[in-house]
Amino acid sequence: MESSVGIITISDRASGGEYDDLGGPAVKQAAEAYGWKVHGEAVIPDEITRIQETIRAFSAQGCGLILTTGGTGIAARDVTPEAIRAIMRVELPGFGEAMRMESLKITPNAILSRSLGAVVDQSLVIALPGKPGGAVECLGFVLGAIPHAVALAQRVPTSC
Ligand code: MTE
Repeated sequence: MESSVGIITISDRASGGEYDDLGGPAVKQAAEAYGWKVHGEAVIPDEITRIQETIRAFSAQGCGLILTTGGTGIAARDVTPEAIRAIMRVELPGFGEAMRMESLKITPNAILSRSLGAVVDQSLVIALPGKPGGAVECLGFVLGAIPHAVALAQRVPTSC
């Protein structure tokens, strides 16, 4: 994949220094293992405006793929899907479907994640669950579709 990657950890506690961010580094390590160039990382609280601003900033900086981790569940502060849906051009429901379907083979709790894929500006955004292992697993489940989806989001000529 030509384009670079932005990684956003969405967590009140990690951004507040209450505990170390483990999700972002885990996703970064996986992205680099796939041979992708990581452009930048951010750790932000579970706040709709901050999530939207950070996604748009990475997109404006040329990230064709933006991976978020956290805030996909059902806690009162989990607003990642709402933040993305309010700014996306289109949702790609297959990403959420595949992540949940495959993750359910590992843990019944996967049904609690509202993880999703969407196109925001010219980027593919994939919202992964917050647990580091779960985020890396979910990324692996949708890997095959990422290069083509990023090319389409960036409007780079591509063949199926
Ligand atoms: N998916 C995978 N593959 N592995 C996991 O361990 N954890 C689940 C789920 N999806 C998990 C997973 C759990 S316990 C929750 S609560 C939801 O993701 C939502 O997580 P989040 O609110 O941190 O995003």
